[in-house]
Amino acid sequence: MHQAFFDPAAKREFEACVADLLNTPEVLSMKRIRHHWFGTCYDHSLFVAYVAFRMARRWGWDEHEAARAGLLHDLFLYDPHTKGTHPGLQCFDHPEAALENAARLTELSEAEANAIVSHMWPLGVHLPRSRAAVAVNLADKSCAVVELLYLYRLMHIGSRLAPLAA
Ligand SMILES: [Fe+2]
Ligand SMILES: [Fe+2]
Repeated sequence: MHQAFFDPAAKREFEACVADLLNTPEVLSMKRIRHHWFGTCYDHSLFVAYVAFRMARRWGWDEHEAARAGLLHDLFLYDPHTKGTHPGLQCFDHPEAALENAARLTELSEAEANAIVSHMWPLGVHLPRSRAAVAVNLADKSCAVVELLYLYRLMHIGSRLAPLAA
C-alpha cells in the first residue's frame, strides 16, 4: 500500500464519516476482542472501514456509507474464542449479531444494514445488494489477507490509522 493511500486529507475525510461512532463504548470494546490471531477486532474494523471508504471514493460510490458499514461490520461484541458465546457457527452468526448491535448504536441506511449482514458472502444466506455491501465485502477480504500475511504489522498500518482513533 502506497503512502498516499493514508494521506492526511483522506484520513480527515474518513474520520468525519465515522466521528460519532469511533469513541462509542461499543466500538471501543472491540479492542478487547482478538481477531485473526494477533490483532484486535477494533484494528481490523478500522482498517476495513478505511479501505471500503477508499474503494467507494475511487468508484464514485457513497463513501460515507462504506466507511460506517465497514467500521460496524464486525460489531458482534463477543469473544468467539470463548465457548458458548454464540449459538451456531461463527461465520454465519457474527454478521447477524453485528447488525443487531449496529442498529442499536446508530441509525443505519438500508445499504449499510445490507453491507453488515452480507459481509461474509458467499458464505451465509445474505446477498450483497448495495454498493456499500460490495465495498465492505471486498475490503474485508482484502484486509484479512493483508492481516494474515503479516503485512498489517510490517507496513505499520495500525499506527498509520491510529491517530484517527485518538
Ligand atoms: Fe466478519
Ligand atoms: Fe471482518
